[in-house]
Amino acid sequence: MKAGFQRILYGGDYNPNQWPREVWEEDMRYFKNAHINSATVNVFSWAKIQPAEEIYDFSELDDIVEMLDRENYDIVMATSTAAVPAWMVKRYPEVMRTDFEGRQHRFGGRHNACPNSPVYQKYMARLAEKLAERYGSNPRVTCWHVNNEYGGECYCENCARAFRVWLRRKYRTVEAVNEAWNMEFWGHTIYDWDEIVPPNLLGDGRSGDQTSFAGLSIDYRRFMSDSLLENFKAEKEQIRKYAPDTPVTTNLMGTFKGLDYFKWGKEMDIVSWDNYPSYNTPWSRVAMCHDLMRGIKDAPFMLMEQTPSQQNWQAYNSLKRPGQLRAQSYQTIAHGGDTIQYFQLRRSKGACEKFHGAVIAHVGNDNTRVFREVARLGAELEALGTQTIGSRNETQVGIVFDWDNYWGLEYTSGPSMDLKYVEQIERYYRFFYEKNFGVSMIPADADFSKYKIVAAPVLYMVKEGMKEALEQYVSQGGVLVLTYMSGIVDSSDNAYLGGYPGPLRSLAGVWVEETDALAPEQSNEAVFADGTTVSCDFLCDLMHLEGAEALAGYGSDFYAGMPVVTKNAFGKGRVYYVGSRLEESGLAKVLSMAAGDAGAAPVIPEQTGLEVTVRRAKDCLLYFVINFRDGEQPLPESLDGLPDLLTGCSARAGEPMKKFEVKILRKEMLN
Ligand code: GLA
Ligand code: ZN
Repeated sequence: MKAGFQRILYGGDYNPNQWPREVWEEDMRYFKNAHINSATVNVFSWAKIQPAEEIYDFSELDDIVEMLDRENYDIVMATSTAAVPAWMVKRYPEVMRTDFEGRQHRFGGRHNACPNSPVYQKYMARLAEKLAERYGSNPRVTCWHVNNEYGGECYCENCARAFRVWLRRKYRTVEAVNEAWNMEFWGHTIYDWDEIVPPNLLGDGRSGDQTSFAGLSIDYRRFMSDSLLENFKAEKEQIRKYAPDTPVTTNLMGTFKGLDYFKWGKEMDIVSWDNYPSYNTPWSRVAMCHDLMRGIKDAPFMLMEQTPSQQNWQAYNSLKRPGQLRAQSYQTIAHGGDTIQYFQLRRSKGACEKFHGAVIAHVGNDNTRVFREVARLGAELEALGTQTIGSRNETQVGIVFDWDNYWGLEYTSGPSMDLKYVEQIERYYRFFYEKNFGVSMIPADADFSKYKIVAAPVLYMVKEGMKEALEQYVSQGGVLVLTYMSGIVDSSDNAYLGGYPGPLRSLAGVWVEETDALAPEQSNEAVFADGTTVSCDFLCDLMHLEGAEALAGYGSDFYAGMPVVTKNAFGKGRVYYVGSRLEESGLAKVLSMAAGDAGAAPVIPEQTGLEVTVRRAKDCLLYFVINFRDGEQPLPESLDGLPDLLTGCSARAGEPMKKFEVKILRKEMLN
């Protein structure tokens, strides 16, 4: 693989095929003024380049590539396989998906192909091959973008058959399947592989993402994620034949539920993702998604898409405020982004995305606020050159994010319908974010020893090997934070018998006997040893100490006085167990103690309302300082005197930073 990009790719999805040729030339002139240096082409052009089963026609794409080549662009070549052409569906209806309700779709939409349709598999691989054969050796094609935002499910007969094969490989015998899914329950015992049907509404699935057999439904999610991943691999294999050194990616979607991105990351050369916060998305959530996307390969990533200003598909598509695009883009780079790309370069004139923001709006020229903001950012990124590319984020905190847990936790029937995985993780992330600790989002099988503190909120499913890995980590001095809804099931969603939190019981030094679920209008209190009292709600573990010490006990109800927050010494390390949802100040108190025990520190010593993130380059640290708050924020003392890569001026302690202002401060390293 080539070693990274030679510049910050600045560009995005470009569909000149939707426009007459005069417009192409005009685009090139405008884009030059915006310092755009890259375009992602051919994302949805299958029907154009294969207008009939035996006909491939690359003439228009050739012209586009030639034009971009003349203009010295980096081309991100997409493969167009995310929406099948109408002729294919007419001839081979099986390529369309069957949905959760059991309806086989006719033509329409996108992300519409059944991943297990042999016809789809044949034609998507063939298309990737033809594209790679034609453009693979073109030095301008510096990245391959397979398909687009993989996701969704299919429940057709081809998928049912493939699922049985997948299960056979995993379990070998039907007895093992019955055991894994606990099929004795409701007498669902199967005696033959053919008796297994996909868990949609016609089977064991229930509406609203519920299921009668979570083991089955979790396996189906694993299988679907794997099926789509096989599609990705099949295209990648074709591309490799002709472009062995060019990175191959597909655009991911942050905390998207459908795919096990950590598994996907192993097959991707570089992660890319699409960042679409809405008007009320907290910046901490955006930061967490970036950290997760960086975490997938523990490496810098591409920002494949963001809108220059407006959305079209959200409930309320507010404009990006002046300066917001710039701040959001630098936040991306701060958290590991090595490219800034838009959806899209020119706004479509029709169909459902005609209101989606673009570099060139419907007015058709560069005389717009959005264009000017895009151009200013482009000039800055060009001036930054390669200074940020490839640098690594500095982190001491690891937060476990695990798709099996995501699926398992949200399939549970009980104890509360409000159990949402990402929300739970985000509460823990937010504390570290607000204090400016560097955070890595890590998989369940991460090397924990890289982090001073590891938080594994709602670790409902403890998979094979995890107990040992966590015990090893803590015994060597690591600090681990656990919460309610942990250690409940194994990887098949069967409860660990013998008391919660199952395999984590001796590590946490507590036994959780029961868990109370509180309705939104109910709450309890956590009373700390120093008298501090904070409210807690949602779920309340009723636990007994088995070696741990109580840091706080419940304030009311029949379990008043029972421990709610505990700390256990295990080997050289410590384990915190948080048995209820603490109000923010209470959680901050616990996590501050844990960070203190771990000797973990924020990236700067001062408390500040600014977002400060650090990337380590070869001979320096880069401090990305951004103000996302409404009021001005003074620059912290410890950053005094450092040169700002964006202005060339030195930062002054106390100097006010306005909302959306950004600095990239460079601190030389001695070696
Ligand atoms: C996604 C898709 C794009 C486009 C944008 C609109 O990210 O990949 O094709 O539809 O959404 O926001
Ligand atoms: Zn299918």
